[in-house]
Amino acid sequence: MEGIMRIPIIAGNWKLNKTISEAVALTTALKALVADNTSVEVIVAPPFTALSAVSDAIASSNIRLAAQDVYSEDSGAFTGEVSAPMLKDAGCDYVIIGHSERRQYFGETNDSVNQKVKAALAHDLKPIICVGEQLEEREAGQTETVIKSHVTGGIAGLSAADLSSCVLAYEPVWAIGTGKTATPDQAQEVHNFIRGLLTEAYSAEVASQICIQYGGSVKPENAAELMVQPDVDGALVGGASLEAESFAKIVEMAVSSQLRGWL
Ligand code: PGA
Repeated sequence: MEGIMRIPIIAGNWKLNKTISEAVALTTALKALVADNTSVEVIVAPPFTALSAVSDAIASSNIRLAAQDVYSEDSGAFTGEVSAPMLKDAGCDYVIIGHSERRQYFGETNDSVNQKVKAALAHDLKPIICVGEQLEEREAGQTETVIKSHVTGGIAGLSAADLSSCVLAYEPVWAIGTGKTATPDQAQEVHNFIRGLLTEAYSAEVASQICIQYGGSVKPENAAELMVQPDVDGALVGGASLEAESFAKIVEMAVSSQLRGWL
């Protein structure tokens, strides 16, 4: 839709990396590098153990905190899980839900994603809902079917107001950690398809306000061409978020793509 300005979101998913002291050092370096940015939402997602320390390190900065997962129940006998109220308490504003590694290695399903999304929203955490097809699915021509089931399954039962607190992240599984990025056209095609699904389920107006990030081997070298695509609203970055310089460069790319969009 013309005239809608979505604020791009650049999120660093640190996955199973960084001790508390490493996480604080990375955050402190990043804070200095992105201090001037006011036009892009910058998020870091450290492991659970470092959330609280990183929350202190980003206090009064323009960086926001995300967790990498959440459990659907608030408390109780669920050994090893971490709940939405706990994440809120640790300083999180966002939580990544349904990352393909969770779907692949930890049995996450559309249904569990949906329950987690609802738990996050109930505690004022913004879900970053990840969707994406595997290589065999793309090659078998099933990309849209898979994306449709991830998107509709993940957001089932949400009101338009709930949805407006959600971020979607399109991450083709074959592009994650492989160095193989989707081409800007491939990314735009799926992002546009996702926005179409949201239009069908809600309205064009609601759909036009939702931020859809791209993820999968995003680097400073390819970030700009992805982010100038009309339906690509930022990036979910794995490997390149583990170094302050490369992550800050991607933020810079997003800022300049944003400025170009405004001209
Ligand atoms: P990558 O990971 O940038 O290392 O490909 C992206 C992600 O899994 O979110």
